[in-house]
Amino acid sequence: MSNRQPPIESLEVEDRVFPPPEQFAARAVATSDLVAAAAADPEGYWAAEASRLEWIEPWQQVLDRSGAPFFKWFTGGRLNASANCLDRHLAERGDRVAFYWEGEPGDAQEITYRDLYERVCRLANGLRELGVGKGDRVAIYLGMVPELPVAMLACARIGAPHTVVFGGFSPNALSERIQDCSCTAVITADEGWRNGKTIPLKANVDAALESCPSVEAAVVVRRTGGEVTWAEGRDHWYHELVERQAPACPPEPMDSEDLLYILYTSGTTGKPKGIVHTTGGYMAGVASTHRQVFDLRDDDVYWCAADCGWVTGHSYIVYGPLANGCTGVLYEGAPGFPGPDRWWRIIERHRVSILYTAPTAIRTFMKWGTDAPAGCDLTSLRLLGSVGEPINPEAWMWYHQHIGGGRCPIVDTWWQTETGTIMISPLPGITSTKPGSATFPLPGVGADIVDEAGTSVGLGQGGYLVLTEPWPAMLRTLYGDDERYLETYWSRFPGLYLAGDGARRDEEGYFWLLGRIDDVMNVSGHRLSTIEIESALVDHPAVAEAAVVGRADAITGQAIAAFVTLVGGVVGDEDLIGELRGHVAKRIGPIARPQSIVLTADLPKTRSGKIMRRLLRDISDDRQLGDVTTLANAEVVREIADMATAARAAGQEE
Ligand code: PRX
Repeated sequence: MSNRQPPIESLEVEDRVFPPPEQFAARAVATSDLVAAAAADPEGYWAAEASRLEWIEPWQQVLDRSGAPFFKWFTGGRLNASANCLDRHLAERGDRVAFYWEGEPGDAQEITYRDLYERVCRLANGLRELGVGKGDRVAIYLGMVPELPVAMLACARIGAPHTVVFGGFSPNALSERIQDCSCTAVITADEGWRNGKTIPLKANVDAALESCPSVEAAVVVRRTGGEVTWAEGRDHWYHELVERQAPACPPEPMDSEDLLYILYTSGTTGKPKGIVHTTGGYMAGVASTHRQVFDLRDDDVYWCAADCGWVTGHSYIVYGPLANGCTGVLYEGAPGFPGPDRWWRIIERHRVSILYTAPTAIRTFMKWGTDAPAGCDLTSLRLLGSVGEPINPEAWMWYHQHIGGGRCPIVDTWWQTETGTIMISPLPGITSTKPGSATFPLPGVGADIVDEAGTSVGLGQGGYLVLTEPWPAMLRTLYGDDERYLETYWSRFPGLYLAGDGARRDEEGYFWLLGRIDDVMNVSGHRLSTIEIESALVDHPAVAEAAVVGRADAITGQAIAAFVTLVGGVVGDEDLIGELRGHVAKRIGPIARPQSIVLTADLPKTRSGKIMRRLLRDISDDRQLGDVTTLANAEVVREIADMATAARAAGQEE
């Protein structure tokens, strides 16, 4: 392993163990028999899980390894993802609530499976009217309004792969994604709500589409009623489009390996990676893992508080839960609006029994104190989940005590946009948990930790996390870039999928995730590439060179620390720093805004001219500096360290 510090500080001393509560174990969905069966015959196990779906035509082969690592699952089978999420529930649970939706300003909707089915069908017909057909790509750029899952399912219904772009991304990031997969249509809203303020979604789309000639139609949801500019012929109001459509639309029969969606995520180069997910294996994987990891029962009210703009929303708000016919909660806005008890009121109001969120949210709530959750009735909760980054044991314990009332198991779920489904996680009825550990690979999943040579390390050792067997929901490739797929995931250790995370197994075989091993940061559970932010900085005319590193941060996991040299003659001051931070936010989105920027005469470089990010990381985390002997310009380091201390203090005060 590299000489990076593990982000989980109390790793070595964590010895608390929480066995599953008895009543959980007694009626758990996932049992040890199931785990044993999956271990004995993984393909048979996945086939049994896939047969819970409704197939239009059965598959001929469970797993086709012939083109490895371009694996295929359930080949020859045909199905439709939206029909699996909607149509097959209508007879028995058409009146059941699919989503309790709450808008940030306080408006609300109860959407039954029948309502959702009709809305999806109307939009699917509307998209067809606009000329969108099977195989056409559709970008979705919305806040967390009901139309977001509706739009995803409408695309799935007609076989048009969607690419959801998080509503917090900038026009530039949006157009880059639209261009990469040549979308022909975009679904957006006039504006979105966040923290009592509006986000100009339509204006952002207008700006993005200036450089997206492939887009022929934009469908616009009226959410806030704010002013928008209109391109006649291209723009269509959502409500007008769906009003004139029939509330039924035959689902397109899709091949198991037909594209379901593309979702972009940051890689180690500036260009985002278009992760490709197909239909059969993905649907089998999300439905199965959602049922087992969340121990799903018929009377559960399940709330995954992620945004559909991330993979968590795709797999565990939309496709998994709806395939399982489950009742869910959707919330549009910020956790602190209008007050710090918003989430806990939602749980109280809807009697939420399962809550799935991210460590960054938990740490934010910790900062706000225990009064808000203590003032609400959270007794309906029976299971808690965590995703997106390592959860520090302190946050785990707070979640357990103050949200779970000491009685709810916590499932710390490790996975990625690429994996499509949860891969390493406790099964709440059978796994004894340890705060901060994602515990063990799920049934049917092969995971290992290897050293530089690709050899499995022993218990108590750290190394690279790899997945050893194909799994149904795995990414199939990167959109339009098979080479990069091979290079990124399969070239380091032949035959093993490289996850890009460091990990360690303790003496009992528990997996402890240690963060990324590459130049990818994890800010509030969102992956951002250092290079993408560096490129955005260098794009500013005053900037000559930039280096970006992730600094440990108590709330967001990592915070973005930038080091910048200016082009000759430019004088740097606080105004320029503010401008540069704004520039990055504009280029990529507010989540990428650096917390601190240090203007420096030079960056620490090796003799071959490579920027030593490792040293900048040490400086940012206020650690003893590592080896500087390979530096070409050692004297610059002390100077940067002093400036960084000042910048850190200023950045954290915000
Ligand atoms: O570093 C791991 C971290 O998030 C990365 C995947 O990010 P993304 O594709 O955006 O998907 C996030 C939601 C699935 C991983 O490579 N990560 C995710 N979950 C955990 C985690 N790190 C530690 N523990 C987790 N439970």
